[in-house]
Amino acid sequence: MHDRETLKNWLRDAYAMEQGLVRTLRRQAEHADEHPHVRRKLEEHAALTENQASRVAGCLDRLGEDPSKVKTALGAVEGVMSGMMSAVAGDDVVKDALACYGAESFEIACYRALSVGARALGEDEIATTCEAILGEEEQMAQWVEQNLPSLVRDYLQAGATAGTR
Ligand SMILES: [Fe+2]
Repeated sequence: MHDRETLKNWLRDAYAMEQGLVRTLRRQAEHADEHPHVRRKLEEHAALTENQASRVAGCLDRLGEDPSKVKTALGAVEGVMSGMMSAVAGDDVVKDALACYGAESFEIACYRALSVGARALGEDEIATTCEAILGEEEQMAQWVEQNLPSLVRDYLQAGATAGTR
């Protein structure tokens, strides 16, 4: 059976992922100027993501790992997200919503794996933290799912009104 090293590695990845996502979410919030409710939600989720990063750091700390030594260079999720940034004029907010949904889905999978892994290794406190974060990511994914239709309609309508698309 794999040991705590695997759990540490997964937590390191999660930490780097959250750090990268804080930057991405802030950038996306700037794109959403014309959609105040989206902007607010993205800013709120950026702040929550920062808090998630510090909770993951706490888990690393428990395992004797120094979170400040974790490399937070461009993570997998950030790569996927920037790969989807080929926006047509004005549709960034729609593209961002797709990327955000993808990122949240990936996070959900990561925290599900982490919580099961931590539980299996008897690290109940880490498992509980990961389950709490998992619930937050599920809520964010649900928010994107619920708001995507109106974002798409608004975008198309704005184009139709301006006669530019
Ligand atoms: Fe997150």
